Amino acid sequence: MRDFEAYLQSHLPEAPSFHPTFDTALKTMLTAGGKRFRPGLLLTVVRSCAPLLVEGAYPVALAVEMFHTYSLIHDDLPVMDNADLRRGEPTLHKRFDEVTAVLVGDALNTHAFYLIATAPLRDDVKTALVRELAYNGGIGGMVLGQAIDCRFEGERLTPEQVDFLHEYKTGRLIAVSLKMGGVIAGLSTEIQAELYDFGLDVGLLFQIQDDILDATQSAEEAGKTTGVDGQKNSYVNLFGLQESCRRADGLVEKIEKRLARFSPALREGLARLLAPYLTRHRQTAKSGC
Ligand code: IPE
Ligand code: IPE
Ligand code: MG
Ligand code: MG
Ligand code: MG
Repeated sequence: MRDFEAYLQSHLPEAPSFHPTFDTALKTMLTAGGKRFRPGLLLTVVRSCAPLLVEGAYPVALAVEMFHTYSLIHDDLPVMDNADLRRGEPTLHKRFDEVTAVLVGDALNTHAFYLIATAPLRDDVKTALVRELAYNGGIGGMVLGQAIDCRFEGERLTPEQVDFLHEYKTGRLIAVSLKMGGVIAGLSTEIQAELYDFGLDVGLLFQIQDDILDATQSAEEAGKTTGVDGQKNSYVNLFGLQESCRRADGLVEKIEKRLARFSPALREGLARLLAPYLTRHRQTAKSGC
């Protein structure tokens, strides 16, 4: 996704004023790196299914990355996960202060919708994109998931509730990134729904792998504070490392089967992007499984 990286670097949000640090803080976490997984999913769908529409998809891909970055900045705050390191850098509230971190998060959230509203796409397409991101990033997804994650620290949830938590806090933003690609590419509502459902499986795998990483990697390896899930309803805490790896492997198999149902171009594009996540956990010594 080097082209997306270049696009991001040349389309950073600007907030010029006499505030001494806000404009720098606004850009800091966006430029710190990250896997760019969600924009990668969106752009892969558009590139595979409607390559001529890719130009219009870039601002929307950036919007999704901005929205995700906001969720990370707030996730790291002392009132949430209280983390010191993110994307290999001090977290925003550590480098600046908590007020700045809260407000940069707010700004990235709102600016994401500004980017969609001003993208060179049809108005009905943009309305659908706003609807999808607002719902799946908010009360129909990430925000509700985060609320449950924080509210139930130290309280054991049932396996069904843990699946709900993971689907909402992580799965739905990943699923909607694929669906938004489908909306831009003008795919049928059936294929959009299939992409979304597929994305829920990918999102669940992604969060289980992240929970495994929290338990098995150092902060230097992960580029973010790890070992902070102690009181959380993470997969590793509820099911143990072995069982979490087994579940992840089951999802890898399911995702590979589902991939086969997409058109060849979409299948190949997504398989390439997802390859690093579709490894068997049994075989990776690093995972500790
Ligand atoms: C971290 O997301 C939060 C989770 C949902 C697990 P990423 O693992 O995509 O973080 P970046 O974007 O690469 O920093
Ligand atoms: C956070 O999950 C998911 C978000 C919505 C930001 P985590 O709290 O596990 O993410 P990391 O491990 O801090 O990246
Ligand atoms: Mg968290
Ligand atoms: Mg966290
Ligand atoms: Mg985590």
